[in-house]
Amino acid sequence: MTDYALLARQLDALLDTRDWLTNSAQACAFIMQQVPELNWAGFYLQRQPEVLSLGPFQGQPACHPIPFSKGVCGAAARTRETQRVDDVHAIPDHIACDAASQAELVIPIVVNDRLWGVLDLDSPSRGRFSADDQAGLEALVKVFIERSDLA
Ligand code: SME
Repeated sequence: MTDYALLARQLDALLDTRDWLTNSAQACAFIMQQVPELNWAGFYLQRQPEVLSLGPFQGQPACHPIPFSKGVCGAAARTRETQRVDDVHAIPDHIACDAASQAELVIPIVVNDRLWGVLDLDSPSRGRFSADDQAGLEALVKVFIERSDLA
């Protein structure tokens, strides 16, 4: 089982600048390395209303832009609630960036009541993300938010 408490301490130590760009690049590289069975890990940012723009990521080149009205990322942005999907093929408007992806976890990043962006994680294993994974990864996002200046 992944020791998310340990990963949170390690991520906290890794993010030693307030710069969101550096920290987001480091955070997704760290998660990709440390969390098993991922094929994509990265950030989408809200840089204009109702649209997500691709930010730092690890994995295959990905879809850009994503309107709030579409896909699992759009649902996370609209609802501001984590989207945990066991089987992406069961989601009619899932946006397939990498054919290997089977499961997805998208965590909204909200700062001062504004949606800054989302962290998107894809896995080639169906049902990859448990409730414990969700809680652990949400805790990592919290570290990222606390360590970064997110305007
Ligand atoms: N599958 C996502 C799109 C982003 S890629 O997975 C990197 C979605 O349906 O929103």
